[in-house]
Amino acid sequence: MTVAETVPPGDLPDPDEDPAALVTLRDAHVVHKARTGGLFSRDRVYALTGADLTIAAGETVGVVGESGCGKSTLAKVLLGIQRPTSGTVSLRGRNLWEMGAAERRTAVGTGTAMIFQDPSTALNRRMPVRQILRDPLDVHRRGTPEQRTTRVRELMSLVGLPTVLADALPGQLSGGQRQRVAIARALALEPQLVVADEPTSALDVSVRAQILNLLLDLKERLNLSLVFVSHDIQTVRRMSDRVITMYLGRIVEESPAARILGEARHPYTRALFSATPGLLAPIDPIPLVGPVPSATKPPSGCPFRTRCWKADAVCATAMPDFEDAGPAHRYRCHHPVLAGETTRDLVSQSSAAMAAATATSKETP
Ligand SMILES: Nc1ncnc2c1ncn2[C@@H]1O[C@H](COP(=O)(O)OP(=O)(O)O)[C@@H](O)[C@H]1O
Ligand code: SF4
Ligand SMILES: [Mg+2]
Repeated sequence: MTVAETVPPGDLPDPDEDPAALVTLRDAHVVHKARTGGLFSRDRVYALTGADLTIAAGETVGVVGESGCGKSTLAKVLLGIQRPTSGTVSLRGRNLWEMGAAERRTAVGTGTAMIFQDPSTALNRRMPVRQILRDPLDVHRRGTPEQRTTRVRELMSLVGLPTVLADALPGQLSGGQRQRVAIARALALEPQLVVADEPTSALDVSVRAQILNLLLDLKERLNLSLVFVSHDIQTVRRMSDRVITMYLGRIVEESPAARILGEARHPYTRALFSATPGLLAPIDPIPLVGPVPSATKPPSGCPFRTRCWKADAVCATAMPDFEDAGPAHRYRCHHPVLAGETTRDLVSQSSAAMAAATATSKETP
């Protein structure tokens, strides 16, 4: 029997998909109903707008942007946890939301995993470590009971947890050990994609580096695709192959991590990274003034225009399309930072624009 005879046509992989792609988002939008607004006309929150993104097998993609810009929403959509309001999510070329619920649960449950910020809430506090790690194997009926027992031991060793902790409850572990359990649990079914959403923010500074190193080591050893979301943008830069910048629900730039400090073309990416300069050449960050817009009322045109020193009338009329800036590098901006412009140049530009705006407002009665 051929594949075409056994699989309904709608379930066949899309021939247009990049064969190296593990997950692909096409024009994905997530719109929530807010608690604000009238009884019958509640405001809408534009959490994710028009996201196009491909994650290749084995790559680490970092996601940066201010709080509330849609990083966690993007992460959940990639993992099939959050259904996009419109647009598609494909896992290995197959549209997740055209699958039946049971098939999607299996595809998502075995192919992807999420590591959350706070392991205390992600782990069942009444289960010992041994059972927490065995649970996904039982649910998805992986191997014989003996093989599951062996796999639990393997997982503990993989994440550096001593076997004596197998009978411990999460409450008896340190924060770092709990996050190791959560990572081991995420890896139990050998997923190809792991999304870590602020995986170290709830941990003591002293154990953060250990957990990050563990994630990097596992990613190499298991050839995982890793999507890494963090407030700590310098860590994101160091950990990632590629960095995605988000602003108000939009992906505004994708850049190879090695280019992001001096060669990012989007003004917001440059402003974001200028705020945490390297110790060798400390300079003031690029100043941003102007109102921070709300996700319930995104500005027309480019969402960054209310704070951008380069904004002009064109920026208010149309959201720029993506422009290519080299391999794996693209940005959406009408007036991008020019090649070779340093952060110091951009600080001067922004300061000059602020001074000019202040002068104009004083002249206008
Ligand atoms: N369930 C929800 N209902 C309403 N608004 C939401 C919901 N989840 C997220 N949001 C809003 O969507 C936007 C993006 O949120 P989120 O993806 O969590 O951002 P980030 O992870 O970058 O901080 C924010 O404005 C947030 O308040
Ligand atoms: S499109 Fe205009 S407002 Fe938006 S980032 Fe570029 S210059 Fe700034
Ligand atoms: Mg978040």
